[in-house]
Amino acid sequence: MSKSDIESSSDSDANAVVTPVKPTVWQRFKAHMKKWWWCYLIGLCIVVLVVILPLFYVGIPHFANSYINKYKYDYEGLSITNPRPTSFHVRQSQKISMGGGFSGSGHLSAFNASCKILSTGEQFAIFPVPTIDFSNGATLDIDHDLEVTCVDCMAQLAVEAATNQSFGVLVTGTPDLKFGSLPTAHLDIHKMMNMNGYNVTDFVNENGAFNVTSVDLLDTPVDGFNVNATISIRNPTPFIVEMGHVTFNLSMGGSDLGYVDLPNLMLQQDISSTIVLGKINTSMLVNEAILGSGELGEVTLDIKGHSCDYNGHDIPYFAAAIKAIQASATLDLLQYVSSLKSL
Ligand SMILES: *[C@@H]1O[C@H](CO)[C@@H](O)[C@H](O)[C@H]1NC(C)=O
Ligand SMILES: *[C@@H]1O[C@H](CO)[C@@H](O)[C@H](O)[C@H]1NC(C)=O
Ligand SMILES: *[C@@H]1O[C@H](CO)[C@@H](O)[C@H](O)[C@H]1NC(C)=O
Ligand SMILES: *[C@@H]1O[C@H](CO)[C@@H](O)[C@H](O)[C@H]1NC(C)=O
Ligand SMILES: *[C@@H]1O[C@H](CO)[C@@H](O)[C@H](O)[C@H]1NC(C)=O
Ligand SMILES: *[C@@H]1O[C@H](CO)[C@@H](O)[C@H](O)[C@H]1NC(C)=O
Ligand SMILES: *[C@@H]1O[C@H](CO)[C@@H](O)[C@H](O)[C@H]1NC(C)=O
Repeated sequence: MSKSDIESSSDSDANAVVTPVKPTVWQRFKAHMKKWWWCYLIGLCIVVLVVILPLFYVGIPHFANSYINKYKYDYEGLSITNPRPTSFHVRQSQKISMGGGFSGSGHLSAFNASCKILSTGEQFAIFPVPTIDFSNGATLDIDHDLEVTCVDCMAQLAVEAATNQSFGVLVTGTPDLKFGSLPTAHLDIHKMMNMNGYNVTDFVNENGAFNVTSVDLLDTPVDGFNVNATISIRNPTPFIVEMGHVTFNLSMGGSDLGYVDLPNLMLQQDISSTIVLGKINTSMLVNEAILGSGELGEVTLDIKGHSCDYNGHDIPYFAAAIKAIQASATLDLLQYVSSLKSL
């Protein structure tokens, strides 16, 4: 597995640019900054994470874990739903408790965070960060659409992230910060995140990434599908992700075997179960199981991601990640012999 690095271009205190105030107040302010700098940093991290989310199967597990460890932010219950070609919905409600020594209250004003590709400076997404109030703790209520402003950029990021290359994201925004009786500070956030991608192939091929739980051959094909199976999939991210209709092409020893259709893929936390419909050359499959090079009943399928759509609309940023999936799976058909009795 590749290691995921998060680097900040500048230290957090240096991110704040404050309108001129009397030095004494400024010093007081700075002292407080030291205590809660992570508060707006978390706001930022959420933005960045959320932007990176479509890079499903990607650096996220490492990236997120690293944040959880560093900032004790809990991503449980964060969900990505209703994907559309240029936006998706993000929801989470989260309470953050403050570390020791913190007292006082304030808020970080709502702002639009702009996310750019580091190498080209091109903006690819805007996320409306809500007001974050804090008073011995903070509550984040996120229930917003994230707008993708450059789908190609996002798709390119997805591919880079899925092929073990390193890539960078720059987040900018200008929220106001009000803390206690101190004057409002106008922040100018300019944060670079460098990440290493994640080898998707390695993840998908890991033992236990997915299991076939049942296989039914349909004597009379339904909508052209002759196989109805159920699989369980491990979610590589800590988030709930609604992906929609996903398809994969199958082959065996270089020959086309057909394709499978996951009509409604919703990745729940940890493990989810989903129906898989297949249009598969079953005589080829059975032939291989009986006469093939492996053990009796065993077949090795090559799986290649093909597409992802939702409500009939192609979801390009998910599709890019799906297309990067290439894996092989060995199935023991004898395990499913009771459901294959029609053969
Ligand atoms: C964010 O951008 C939208 C659309 O341009 C605008 O309506 C909204 O007021 C902006 N929000 C903030 C906090 O600036
Ligand atoms: C991912 O890992 C597989 C097997 O470990 C390797 O063959 C492949 O080249 C790797 N892909 C990238 C882009 O590094
Ligand atoms: C993935 O990238 C890391 C760091 O760049 C490198 O050490 C590792 O060998 C790469 N893995 C593959 C399979 O290319
Ligand atoms: C697949 O089965 C193995 C062995 O029973 C289990 O350890 C693993 O968690 C399962 N994975 C999924 C995604 O169900
Ligand atoms: C596939 O099987 C599931 C339950 O096993 C059933 O609900 C669904 O209607 C079946 N689909 C087709 C196309 O046969
Ligand atoms: C790949 O799958 C798609 C649908 O999922 C299908 O239309 C296409 O013909 C398949 N390609 C091959 C080479 O089987
Ligand atoms: C299934 O595969 C066999 C080769 O194993 C081929 O002869 C046959 O034409 C294929 N059937 C279909 C419907 O593609």
